[in-house]
Amino acid sequence: MGCMGGLGPRPFYSALMAMPTLTPEARQYIEDQAGKRIGSGSWAITTGQAQLHQSILANDSAAMQKAIATVRAGVLEAESGAAALQAVNEGQSPRQLALTWFKTQMSVPAAVGMPVDEGPWGLSWYHLSTMTFLVAFVLATILIHYARLRRIGSLVQRLTPGAAPVAVPAGGAKSAPFAADAAAFVTVPTLAAPSTPAALDFSAQNPSAVEAPAPGKTSKPWTGALRVADIFYETPNVKTFRLREPGGGPIPFTFVPGQFLTFSAEVDGKRIRRSYTIASAPTQRDYVELTVKREDLGAESRYLHDNVAVGDHLEVSGPAGVFTFTGTEANSIVLISGGVGITPMMCITRYLTDRAFPGDIFFLYGASSPQNVIFREELEYLRKRHANLHVATTVGRVDETPWTGAVGYISKEFIARNVPEIARRRVHVCGPPAMMEAVKSALIELGVSKHKTKSEAFGQALGAAPVPAAAGVPATDTAAPSTLTASPHTVPSAQSEIEFRKSGKTGPLAPDKCVLEAAEAIGVAIDFSCRVGTCGVCAVPLLKGAVTMAVQEGLPPEDKARGIILACQAKSAGNLVVDA
Ligand SMILES: Cc1cc2nc3c(=O)[nH]c(=O)nc-3n(C[C@H](O)[C@H](O)[C@H](O)COP(=O)(O)OP(=O)(O)OC[C@H]3O[C@@H](n4cnc5c(N)ncnc54)[C@H](O)[C@@H]3O)c2cc1C
Ligand code: FES
Repeated sequence: MGCMGGLGPRPFYSALMAMPTLTPEARQYIEDQAGKRIGSGSWAITTGQAQLHQSILANDSAAMQKAIATVRAGVLEAESGAAALQAVNEGQSPRQLALTWFKTQMSVPAAVGMPVDEGPWGLSWYHLSTMTFLVAFVLATILIHYARLRRIGSLVQRLTPGAAPVAVPAGGAKSAPFAADAAAFVTVPTLAAPSTPAALDFSAQNPSAVEAPAPGKTSKPWTGALRVADIFYETPNVKTFRLREPGGGPIPFTFVPGQFLTFSAEVDGKRIRRSYTIASAPTQRDYVELTVKREDLGAESRYLHDNVAVGDHLEVSGPAGVFTFTGTEANSIVLISGGVGITPMMCITRYLTDRAFPGDIFFLYGASSPQNVIFREELEYLRKRHANLHVATTVGRVDETPWTGAVGYISKEFIARNVPEIARRRVHVCGPPAMMEAVKSALIELGVSKHKTKSEAFGQALGAAPVPAAAGVPATDTAAPSTLTASPHTVPSAQSEIEFRKSGKTGPLAPDKCVLEAAEAIGVAIDFSCRVGTCGVCAVPLLKGAVTMAVQEGLPPEDKARGIILACQAKSAGNLVVDA
């Protein structure tokens, strides 16, 4: 067709596309070209018709085909010219004209064509909206990626004990060469740990946005009243008392896992004092929990079980105690307990799991029977959640409560079976005196050195045997020196005396009586709790003289070096002066 008219479709089309606007010159050009096309098209139609007529007469089919093609080409050319003229008359732009013409040439239906309404910057609205959608999509992808990075950062922070807040680049992840752009960093706050299922009331372990005291830090001893906010039944003879600050708010002291509080109560007209380990973790600041076993003939434990109700106020002092573990002292810990001796171990375990302690925690527990296993569900729950917590429980005998675990006492074999390489680990032991003595012997046989073993007796310690009368006789507790001397010139006498400097009182001191008993005999008040050398409540400074102490587990070495003695253990054959 181009050959026929001397103007091929491509030059006309390209010429139209190159014209930005419909100037009078452009209009003239298009009208000229359109006229030529209509003219040459109609000439081709006429010629083709004549050729077709002759080929039909000559019965020449090939000539017929050629004639028909000429007619068709003429129609198309005339049609394109007519379309261009119409578009010019409608005021369309040259480019739209070119497109109209092109579609006519290519026989493309108008509905299939792209919209050519022009938007800003010479782009079509279709083009613009597609680009806008793509840009929005890319931005959304970047934002999602950035949010993921923040989440990962905060998770890393949660799982890293004592880690500094995690910082991520403000613009999201960057490759190493760009990561040094510290000025653009934002700090991600630490997330609270996920809370535990509501069905199991393990909320004592939920740190829920509270700060634990710095490891190894305990507040000054505090005395005051705490309100019983709740009482939980753990086993047939064990209850947990949840205590809160009466006015609300956080508990008025901080403590270290393993410490205890001392209750003071008037029972049957007598004031008695007893210590109870805090079983809840220090990460919980809204309350403390004490888990108490009812002793059939016990004064305080019976009082707590039988008389104390929710809403009552209890006289409390503390915290105190050195039977502690915060996770900084060793990179793994073995906690062996029996009966209600589980309380310090539970506090330590709750604390360590709350704080994501990375080391192994071996929790070995012995109960008299399955129904007396304290914190059974919670230990199982924690064990499932924390791969580094290894729990092994044994019972003395089976009862009606379902039990598939071990039966028997905590023996050397039981320990060896459940704690690999125990000789290199730190071990804590707490429970009834007989159990503690058996476990300590087993530990020695397993190669655990004494300085790696810490223990606390809740009752009368087996080591608390009467001390021989003569001063300086070695005590049964070989963990520490038995004799404490405040003056090298102590002269033993048949009837020694003890002076209580603060009270201004002096009284007799028999060699078989301890300082606490001598004080009570003449009405000098010295605080006490366990009376067996483990709680440390009766600590007083020795100003003059020398004493022996059978048990001194409740006395930190630094206090001992400062001349502090345990009044419930200190005995002497010479004269003494104490600051009480
Ligand atoms: C540091 C420390 C932490 C402790 N933590 C806990 C703890 O978390 N949970 C806990 O439950 N305990 C704990 N104890 C033990 C607690 O302090 C008490 O010793 C315990 O509750 C018993 O006190 P009580 O007044 O009931 O018994 P007490 O009146 O002191 O009697 C002591 C024992 O003697 C028996 N007894 C009393 N009178 C007689 C009699 N006439 N005949 C025969 N037997 C008799 C009692 O049955 C009891 O077993 C802890 C002790 C210490 C030192
Ligand atoms: S009263 Fe507990 S150590 Fe003396």
